[in-house]
Amino acid sequence: MNLVGKRCLVTGGAIRVGRALVELLADRGARIAFTYRSSRDAAMELQRQLSGTGVEAHALPCELSDAQDVARLIAECRALWGGVDVLINSASQFRRTPLTDATLDDWDDQMNANLRAPWLLSQAFGPQMKQRGEGIILNMLDIAAERPYPGYLPYCASKAGLVALTKGLARVLAPEVRVNGIAPGTVLWPDDYPEEQKQRTLAKTPMRGVGSPEDIAAAARYLIEDAPFVTGVVLPVDGGRLLV
Ligand SMILES: NC(=O)c1ccc[n+]([C@@H]2O[C@H](COP(=O)([O-])OP(=O)(O)OC[C@H]3O[C@@H](n4cnc5c(N)ncnc54)[C@H](OP(=O)(O)O)[C@@H]3O)[C@@H](O)[C@H]2O)c1
Repeated sequence: MNLVGKRCLVTGGAIRVGRALVELLADRGARIAFTYRSSRDAAMELQRQLSGTGVEAHALPCELSDAQDVARLIAECRALWGGVDVLINSASQFRRTPLTDATLDDWDDQMNANLRAPWLLSQAFGPQMKQRGEGIILNMLDIAAERPYPGYLPYCASKAGLVALTKGLARVLAPEVRVNGIAPGTVLWPDDYPEEQKQRTLAKTPMRGVGSPEDIAAAARYLIEDAPFVTGVVLPVDGGRLLV
């Protein structure tokens, strides 16, 4: 897809990987709406920065674990543009939730933000894309969908669900709409990640080191712009971590 003038919605776009995806879309000439929850200052700064370079950019607040707030976001995008051409589900809740301590709220928050929200957004915009004859949905997954992290099972289950959703939507929305996923290994450490766990991760990564948000943006650019015959795939960008 040629991104020039395309209407793109990115969830969780204010900082980190989501921001790199927003910057990629801006660089390719797209019109952008991105959501934020707590990173209001960063979102406003990014909106200002993009608008300053002539890019149409809208920073929209949304609590994705709240279905009503997602419905409001959908209505806002429709009021803005009628629909979207590209939907990138990048926001996600990643919280340590050991089996013995995790609460029902932990489960609900992560499943709702990481899986239900992409479902609701795909349901709102996917059929419209299909009807218009063109569209792309890109979901940010995690290698942990395949190799679950023991202390993060609700998160891993939400990402495994999103893998199934990615493949299922690819079937339902073909041939007009392509639906793919990117499964990062580590490209940015979570805040407060213990040093010992970092060292363990590095030791299990054949390419050594961690990747970068730009690695994810490069994969996204390929899947959006250069892969017309690719749908329903999960592309690992993990330095080979799934190999060991
Ligand atoms: N970083 C990595 O190395 C890595 C590895 C594997 C997979 N991934 C996946 O790649 C994607 C991006 O990674 P990341 O590290 O940039 O993610 P992140 O920093 O953990 O989260 C991205 C954004 O999601 C938003 N968010 C979280 N819960 C939300 C909620 N309930 N409602 C609305 N927004 C919410 C937050 O927005 P606010 O800041 O505005 O609150 C946050 O900035 C995620 O899907 C992640 O699972 C990343």
